[in-house]
Amino acid sequence: MNLNTLINANKKNFDIKFKKILKNKLDKSSLSKAMYYGSMNGGKRIRPFLVMESAKIANISTNDAFIIASCIECIHSYSLIHDDLPSMDDDDYRRGKLSTHKKFNEATAILAGDALHDLAFELISGNLNNKNESSKLRLINILSLYIGHKGLALGQALDLEFENKTLTKNKILDMYSKKTGKLFEFSFSAPFILNNKSKKDIQFAKEYGMLFGLIFQVIDDLIDETGNFKNIGKTPGKDIEQGKSTLLGLIGKEKVIYMCYNKINKFVKKYRFKLNRYPLLVDLLKFGMKRVS
Ligand code: IPE
Ligand code: IPE
Ligand code: MG
Ligand code: MG
Ligand code: MG
Repeated sequence: MNLNTLINANKKNFDIKFKKILKNKLDKSSLSKAMYYGSMNGGKRIRPFLVMESAKIANISTNDAFIIASCIECIHSYSLIHDDLPSMDDDDYRRGKLSTHKKFNEATAILAGDALHDLAFELISGNLNNKNESSKLRLINILSLYIGHKGLALGQALDLEFENKTLTKNKILDMYSKKTGKLFEFSFSAPFILNNKSKKDIQFAKEYGMLFGLIFQVIDDLIDETGNFKNIGKTPGKDIEQGKSTLLGLIGKEKVIYMCYNKINKFVKKYRFKLNRYPLLVDLLKFGMKRVS
């Protein structure tokens, strides 16, 4: 089966379960409605796919993989709701529909983002079946470090600070690793951490997730420039319009793609023995380079 089919099948399955858990947790308040809208509105669910693949290798239960994936999608959705706000990227569309602040209002969107962030912690602290309290605590600690003032939130702050500036390649790479890389790193390494895998295996999983995240952001930038609304579901051409500092803008398409393949090749070489057992992981990196939506 090709990767598109596998990812879509996983998305279908994830969406059914995620819908159930949200319906179960949320109520009829407008805050709940905005949270539901901002998280169930047609994401690609790439991070949940990474969690599922990692869960098979690290051998955690389907329930726990689903809870980790749901937690990640809550964080991801919160970050997108806030990312679209007028004070951030000011985007009226997300996933082919009105962004949450346009569908509801700005205050509701801010609070829906906050509450999705909290729901993520409710899920990961309360809904895992794993009985190892210390590895659960470690997982929650790592998540909070990855998305906070040294992780995703800092990455988003830097992204805004970097508008209309000329920066070095390393500064932009650092911003990408925080705003996008860290949540992918968490997606692929969380099952390993929960199941107390060896330091070496956790390191492998972290590096894989971070590399996937970097590729993901580079291609996001590329399709912002070359894609259309139908494919990307958000307003194309926003990065140039807003003076975003992107690697694409700094070094151009050819060099940025070369850089990514170079990083993939280095990673595959470093972990060739492990990757021989999991060829899908290499295919997934290449798939990440080719995506158009
Ligand atoms: C968009 O993420 C934001 C980035 C980190 C580039 P996705 O492209 O995964 O968004 P959805 O969830 O599929 O809408
Ligand atoms: C998004 O980067 C990163 C996060 C939301 C954390 P972008 O601003 O490029 O994402 P899009 O293009 O709006 O989806
Ligand atoms: Mg942004
Ligand atoms: Mg944006
Ligand atoms: Mg973008």
